[in-house]
Amino acid sequence: MAEGYFNEVAVFGLGFVGLPLSLCFTLANCRVVGVDVDAGLVQEINNGVTYHHEQYRGFPIQEILRQELARGSFRATTDAREALGRAQDIVVTVGLPVIGGEPDTGPLTGCLRSIAAGLKPGDLVLVRSTLVPGMMRRLVKPLLEESGLTAGRDFYLGYAPERIAEGRAFEEFVTMPVVVSGIDELSRNEAAALLRIITRAETLPASSFEAAEVAKLIENISRDVGIALVNELSALTGTMGINTFEVVRLANSHKRVKLLQPGPGVGGYCLPNAFHYLAPVAREAGIDLELMAAARRVNDAMPRRVADAVLRLLPVPPAAARVAVLGLAMKDFSSDSRQSPALKVVAHLQEAGLAIRAFDPLVPDVYPFQVGSLEKALDGAHGAVVLARQQGFEPENVEAFARFLDPSAPFIVDTKNIYANLKIVPAGLRVVFI
Ligand SMILES: NC(=O)c1ccc[n+]([C@@H]2O[C@H](COP(=O)([O-])OP(=O)(O)OC[C@H]3O[C@@H](n4cnc5c(N)ncnc54)[C@H](O)[C@@H]3O)[C@@H](O)[C@H]2O)c1
Repeated sequence: MAEGYFNEVAVFGLGFVGLPLSLCFTLANCRVVGVDVDAGLVQEINNGVTYHHEQYRGFPIQEILRQELARGSFRATTDAREALGRAQDIVVTVGLPVIGGEPDTGPLTGCLRSIAAGLKPGDLVLVRSTLVPGMMRRLVKPLLEESGLTAGRDFYLGYAPERIAEGRAFEEFVTMPVVVSGIDELSRNEAAALLRIITRAETLPASSFEAAEVAKLIENISRDVGIALVNELSALTGTMGINTFEVVRLANSHKRVKLLQPGPGVGGYCLPNAFHYLAPVAREAGIDLELMAAARRVNDAMPRRVADAVLRLLPVPPAAARVAVLGLAMKDFSSDSRQSPALKVVAHLQEAGLAIRAFDPLVPDVYPFQVGSLEKALDGAHGAVVLARQQGFEPENVEAFARFLDPSAPFIVDTKNIYANLKIVPAGLRVVFI
């Protein structure tokens, strides 16, 4: 234990989970070194820069990051060996990207090998990444044991899948119950003890790595399937002239019904990937995941449906049309556009020949079709399609939107039900809900 600090922690992966998790540990008086292979990201973080949209007790993550850097309780590095020198608690948040429907173990394998190279007797390795069931035992343990040390005997090995939602990371690290498993009871207890430094919520012991791995996946898949259910319904209610969001609200007044909200598709790292992590295990076992696969198909078809709705409303041929895309994030009030359905809507519209100007106040400016303001996106466009809720897209602003749009036959395709209860609909403006 370091003087003045509870624990010395090394967090591997400084992404949407790793960076706020590192800072959560420092706020709980641990000293943290964050390790990432992305040298540009490490430099940015050490300069106090991050594009994450997180806050803790009203303080933005940017402020917390700068404060913890200044206090000397946090720093980032690309040098795993140096980071491991002092740390006894090693937390892994490196994920498994899905490429062509298959999980890519490359980044995780690289991370575990770099940990094995500096692992010491008595260390705890706690993995928080979402995994293919069986991976803790079949991939993580053997790779760490390349160190010459044995899990359970020489070092502790735990698995506690991360459950936070981006945008609520700091709050949920503290309040979300955590499922904890270990190679043995001692490892599970060590992992739970580390987590209890930051969490006030329950730590639920799982009897095996596999139970924890599958529990994490079915949490995500249950949301994917739930969203597919209402997305499929919305295809039908659309033809009946009924608002799906209203139907969901009415149905959810039943005490045992908890429908989710429809939307332009399901994006991000977590929900769509979960099926692809479970699928290889099911294939090996000869089990057909019929319902889960169908849900993926329904949700993957949504961007095409949204794009088709836009194309039907155009007052001019697609090659002469311009549309404003509002919201590029994969979910509301987020800066994360990874695997965002909005990007797929844009691709479909561009394929059809439309010119696109997209605005999202939180997503960093990385796409060629992005513009810096709502006005620039709307100005002269034939219509707008809203794909994520963000500040500025409120119903009060719709009159101003209408003023910027081309007056010939302006329209808004609203996938978020923002404009359902407009007191006054600007003259000539059509609002269509998906
Ligand atoms: N984003 C979420 O809200 C969320 C929520 C719950 C669980 N998860 C899970 O947590 C994990 C991390 O997700 P994320 O969104 O933070 O991913 P991310 O892509 O934002 O971050 C991962 C980081 O790991 C780094 N990395 C890659 N290889 C490395 C290596 N060898 N050593 C050190 N760093 C390396 C990458 O450069 C990247 O910065 C995933 O398994 C994900 O499924 C994410």
